[in-house]
Amino acid sequence: MFAIVCYLLLRSVAVLGCNANSSWVFDATNHSNQTLGTRSFWVHVPPSYNASTAHPLVVSFHGYDEDERIHEEATGFSKEKLLIAGKGLIAVYPLAAYGPGKFGKFGKPARAWTGAPYASPEADDLSFVLAMLDALQDNLCIDKRRIYAAGMSNGGGFANLLACTPHTRLHFAAFAPVSPALYAGTHPFSPNCTVEPSRPVPVITFHGTADDVIPYEGRTTNDTPPVLGPAAERETTPSIAEWVGAWAERNACNSSSASDSGSDSDSASGDTGTGGDSTPYAGATETTWACSGQVEVKAFVIDNGTHRWPSTVGENAGPYSFNATEAQIVPFFASYSASVV
Ligand SMILES: *[C@@H]1O[C@H](CO)[C@@H](O)[C@H](O)[C@H]1NC(C)=O
Ligand SMILES: *[C@@H]1O[C@H](CO)[C@@H](O)[C@H](O)[C@H]1NC(C)=O
Ligand SMILES: *[C@@H]1O[C@H](CO)[C@@H](O)[C@H](O)[C@H]1NC(C)=O
Ligand SMILES: *[C@@H]1O[C@H](CO)[C@@H](O)[C@H](O)[C@H]1NC(C)=O
Ligand SMILES: *[C@@H]1O[C@H](CO)[C@@H](O)[C@H](O)[C@H]1NC(C)=O
Ligand SMILES: *[C@@H]1O[C@H](CO)[C@@H](O)[C@H](O)[C@H]1NC(C)=O
Ligand SMILES: *[C@@H]1O[C@H](CO)[C@@H](O)[C@H](O)[C@H]1NC(C)=O
Ligand SMILES: *[C@@H]1O[C@H](CO)[C@@H](O)[C@H](O)[C@H]1NC(C)=O
Repeated sequence: MFAIVCYLLLRSVAVLGCNANSSWVFDATNHSNQTLGTRSFWVHVPPSYNASTAHPLVVSFHGYDEDERIHEEATGFSKEKLLIAGKGLIAVYPLAAYGPGKFGKFGKPARAWTGAPYASPEADDLSFVLAMLDALQDNLCIDKRRIYAAGMSNGGGFANLLACTPHTRLHFAAFAPVSPALYAGTHPFSPNCTVEPSRPVPVITFHGTADDVIPYEGRTTNDTPPVLGPAAERETTPSIAEWVGAWAERNACNSSSASDSGSDSDSASGDTGTGGDSTPYAGATETTWACSGQVEVKAFVIDNGTHRWPSTVGENAGPYSFNATEAQIVPFFASYSASVV
């Protein structure tokens, strides 16, 4: 009996979360690097953080052979003034474990996420993410209904895996895979992405037509792309348009009408209807599908865009006339909250 009471008391403190005493220490830039066993994640709280108010949480996964600091800089999720439901967002950048490295001549050990053929076979990234979410909710005041996942390249493929694995998908309200590396291990066409009892899954994605790392048209074993050479079976990736179309199909989305049909693009139309195309930015085509529950699937294709997070600053920014994080991803996330807690 005593043990049960103690358990309930402990549990209620943990569940309270927002009022719990946390030992996490933040530096002068409001960052804290947390470890969980052999793994770590880099946390940024907004200047407006209030330990008694539930805040939205964005978890964003870096690309192959990158790290959490590079990814924070590239995405800008820690920038001031980004709000979801009127609250500053907590941004978390987990660090991948080392895998054997990418194919042939690129075969030096490098950080990578589960789902890619070059990820560590021992690292259990799905379990790591669930443990990380528990730690975050035990130590910070987080709105459980407003947790979102984003990622770049291999990290984008991993965001797709989180969306397509029933026990991880439930924790996230929406997903933003950017230039995703959709190897077979990320389950790009799995029916599990939308299995009950969930509602349709909101997804927003971006891809450049000049991406030579993860080509927009996909990579088959017959291709001889300039950077990596012919792909082995396990290194193939699908057409991005087919993958987005599969999301629209699984979500049972209707094609939506264009708000501004400045473009007659043939891109991103996939298997299910044509979506609604518009050109909100110079050189970019947006296709939007309307699904039940006011959920949308949105895909941006950037003419001559390369393998990068869309932004008007930095290397290769040339073809980009918008910043994906502020202009699209954060507002898209803000439209959704999960019903499951
Ligand atoms: C947090 O710790 C302080 C000081 O130890 C204590 O006074 C307070 O009651 C604790 N609050 C909670 C919610 O545990
Ligand atoms: C966080 O800690 C891990 C593990 O010690 C380390 O590898 C990583 O570089 C640290 N990250 C930052 C941003 O300090
Ligand atoms: C860190 O957060 C505090 C509020 O807790 C704020 O006053 C300060 O400006 C923030 N610092 C940075 C560098 O964002
Ligand atoms: C923090 O949030 C609590 C609960 O919503 C509120 O009562 C309090 O005024 C807030 N503190 C600040 C400094 O805004
Ligand atoms: C779907 O999810 C179930 C339960 O998590 C799992 O056993 C099965 O392998 C998954 N199927 C696919 C195609 O991912
Ligand atoms: C799909 O189209 C049908 C027929 O126009 C309409 O009744 C239904 O509400 C639409 N569903 C969505 C999710 O837009
Ligand atoms: C895209 O690149 C091609 C070849 O470099 C060039 O001819 C074309 O003008 C570019 N288009 C845009 C919209 O930048
Ligand atoms: C994108 O963000 C950068 C850095 O904050 C800024 O200099 C630039 O003006 C932004 N571009 C657009 C189109 O908003």
